[in-house]
Parts: sequence; structure tokens; C-alpha cells
Amino acid sequence: MAEDLRGWLERVEKRGELEKLDSAHWDTEIGCLTALNWKRKPSPALLFDNITGYPRGYRVLTGSTRTPSRVCLTFGLPEGLSGLPLLEVVRRKFEEWESKLESYPPKTVSTGPVLENVLSGKDVDLLKFPVPKWHEEDGGRYIGTGDAVITRDPETGQVNSGTYRVMVQDRQTTGLYISPGRHGFLHLQKYHAAGKPCPVLVSVGHHPLVFRISCLEVPFGTEFHYMGAVRGEPVELITEEVTGLPMPADAEIVIAGWVPQDKRLPEGPFGEWHGYYASKERPAPIIEVERIYHRNNPVLVGSPPGRPPSDTSYFMVLMSSAMLFNELTKAGVPDIRGVYFSEVGQQQFITISIKQRYAGHARQAALLTSQLRRASYMNRYVVVVDEDIDPTDMDDVMWAIASRSNPETGIDIIRRTRSSSVDPTIRKPAEALFNSRAIIDACKPFEWIDEFPKTVTFRPQVVSRMKDKFRSFAG
Ligand SMILES: Cc1cc2nc3c(=O)[nH]c(=O)nc-3n(C[C@H](O)[C@H](O)[C@H](O)COP(=O)(O)O)c2cc1C
Repeated sequence: MAEDLRGWLERVEKRGELEKLDSAHWDTEIGCLTALNWKRKPSPALLFDNITGYPRGYRVLTGSTRTPSRVCLTFGLPEGLSGLPLLEVVRRKFEEWESKLESYPPKTVSTGPVLENVLSGKDVDLLKFPVPKWHEEDGGRYIGTGDAVITRDPETGQVNSGTYRVMVQDRQTTGLYISPGRHGFLHLQKYHAAGKPCPVLVSVGHHPLVFRISCLEVPFGTEFHYMGAVRGEPVELITEEVTGLPMPADAEIVIAGWVPQDKRLPEGPFGEWHGYYASKERPAPIIEVERIYHRNNPVLVGSPPGRPPSDTSYFMVLMSSAMLFNELTKAGVPDIRGVYFSEVGQQQFITISIKQRYAGHARQAALLTSQLRRASYMNRYVVVVDEDIDPTDMDDVMWAIASRSNPETGIDIIRRTRSSSVDPTIRKPAEALFNSRAIIDACKPFEWIDEFPKTVTFRPQVVSRMKDKFRSFAG
């Protein structure tokens, strides 16, 4: 059987990357310590235990994949790389994993640790777990932040797993916020159009791979195959009794229930990934919970958003950049050196570095970048730079913008593009959710590229001679 969350915790602890904290309160204290931890160097994973009002053993994990080292550990990537070399490895890995999806269909098993405790009827109690109120102004306690929301397409039978936020409404009801267009949203729509409630499972504690694959825009319905391809062995799933949906056999906590067609309850506000409470409280679909499954001494996995850099920002930058790089390559853009989201801006600020080959190459790369799947949602700026600029290095990128772009000719605005209800720049309520985006061409002008002033630099042989001669500069 593949490694579960507990095996993962052991490995992380052995590396000295796990900090255990006792006696934090679920009401904002776990959230505040989690946010403070994002800025610490090194930034360990935090395992909260003995949480105020809860028995010892009912734990909360945060920061699971906050750092390069734990992302690599979780995904079996080589360690010690960063920047463009790591990006290159990850984008090749995505190609490899995607080519192996058919070899790793999930395996249905009849039993597993998640069945250690089954709560139904009046025993269903979401607040049996130390669900944090993550930020001071949140509208409630969010049990689902690092979660996997599992639904099935009623027409094709395809199963999807997506990370969508889940707020506790009362002991047997949650809210569920899914943006229009998400795969889970499409499933909800189909059930509701047929006048039926949508069956749903929400896994809120599991190996970090489960929710990290669920929050990536992998092809529709391939999440469990992907997890298998990354691990090199199939994921084991148990068919949940009341919904008929599959749940990870080694999950820590799984909620099973139904999203009714016509019921909405106030949800939010919630501290978002861009650093704002951008969606006000408003009606959102709910889950009427029928069962809860949990392991003994369960671990709730949290990945609260917040002002970046945050729990999720590094992971999303690395993975989404690699996926977008592959998308652009497939779309036919030649000579890409790198594509990189910014850790503070995420997909709102993307840089692409190219070796300019023909007139219009830079605009082609930038315009496509702004519209492909991984960037279309809430992108704001795409900067295109030459091949000597490292898109993973913000100093390099800002230098190129400052010194090579000509605002008069180098900035194009695209209007009425895809935004979101969490866009902080849109005043709510809004008639429609559009944003605009800017393409910043910070490349040397193609028509006189060979005459462009030479960059002040030192030849590599001079640099290495200095490092040999003055040893304190080596390394
Ligand atoms: C920590 C985290 C929380 C997220 N929360 C939400 C959410 O509340 N609603 C939403 O629509 N998308 C949310 N997302 C984005 C989706 O998980 C992501 O777009 C994913 O690809 C959706 O799965 P799908 O493509 O199968 O629909 C979140 C992502 C992360 C990393």
C-alpha cells in the first residue's frame, strides 16, 4: 500500500521539518501561527495538537508543501534544484505522468483505515474536529481548505476531485464555494438541471498529494490516475456507501452528503489567496452531511490562503508554471526559455522568456500566455522578456521592464477578459465579472535587436577566475 499521511509525517519529521505545537486555539490562533510560519526561514510543517476544547490526538496540519524541499518530497522530485532547472524537471515530469495515466487506474478495495470510525444520523458532527477559524474576518470555520471534493458526472460517470473551500454552517451542514467553470461546478449543474441533489464526498485529511493534485488543473477526471502516476502505484479507493462515490482508503476524515438544488446559505467572507477578503458574504450552495468517516486520532489538513507568499503560493507557482510552459509549447510557440508565475502575484503576474526569432514572436507568446487554461482565470499582467532574463528572478524581470520596455509601444490592453467573484478590483455586486489584462513587451526591439546597447556584464571566464583567486567569493 502506498504511503499515507502518517508515513509522510514520519519522513518530514526525520528531516527536522515538522514542528509540533500544543495548546493553540482553533479560533484564529492556528491561522495566525500558520501565517507567521510562512515567513519563517526555514518554514517547517506545523502539526497542532491538544487544541483548545478538543481531545489530544485530534490534530491539524498546515504548511505541508510550503517549501521546495517538501514539494519535492511529496512528488518524488530530485532535491537541491531551484529556478529554471527545477522548472525544466517538473515540466518533463508532467509529460511523463500524463503519458502514464492509463497505466494507473485507481484500485477499488473493500476496507481501509478511513473506516475506523463511521458517524451517521445524530452522531454526524463536523465540530467533532478542531476546525480552525483561519483569519480574523472569516465568516466561519473552514473545514475544507486543503481538501479534495469528489463528484461524479451523472452522464459519463467520470469522477472528479477538486479543491474547493468548505465552511461549516452547523454540525451537519457545510457551505461549498465552487467557481463557475470548475469541473465540480459542471457536475453540480448537471444533477440540478435533472432536478436531483448532487452526491459529494469531501476528504479533508489525507496525504498531501491528494489535495495538491486536486488543486491543479489536470485533465478532467484524471486526478486519481495522476496520483497513481506520480507515486508509481495505483491509489486505493473505497466505494462510499450512501453516495456511491470513491474515497481514498487511507484518508483521515471524509464527509459524505448531498448538495441540494434549491438551498443556499450565506458563505464567506474568506481571506483569499491574493491577500484580500474580496468576496463578501453571499448565498452559496450547501452540503447536507449524511456520514462522516474518520481514522482514530485524525489529522485535518489545512491549506488556508492569505497574503502571499502563503501556504500554497510556492507550490502553485512551480506546478502551474510548468503546466503552462507545456501548454504554450503544444500551442506552437517556439524557443521558450521559461514561463513563471510570480509568488506574490500568482497567475496575476506571469513572465515568459523567449529567444526572439521573428517579428511578432514576443506578442504571440504573451497573448497566448494570457489566454491559455492555466492563466485565463484572473491573469492581469503578462511580461515577455528576452532569453538572457531569468523569469524566475524578479530582480531580472523588473530590470527588463524598467530598462527595455517602451510604454508607448510596449503595452497592450486586452479588455473584457475572464475574472472571478474574488477579484478585489471589482466592486460588488457586479453586473458581470470581467477584468482586463496588460501585455508588457520588455524585449529588445526586434527590428534593431543587434544594435541594442550591450549589457554591462563580466564574461564567465573572468567571473570564475575571480572566484578562484578570491576564495571568499566562491560558491
Ligand atoms: C488551497 C486552494 C484552495 C482553493 N479553493 C477554491 C475554491 O474555494 N473554489 C474554487 O472554485 N477553486 C478553488 N481553488 C482552485 C481549484 O482547486 C483549482 O482550479 C482546481 O483545478 C479545480 O479542480 P477542477 O479543475 O477539477 O475543477 C483552490 C485552490 C487551492 C490551491
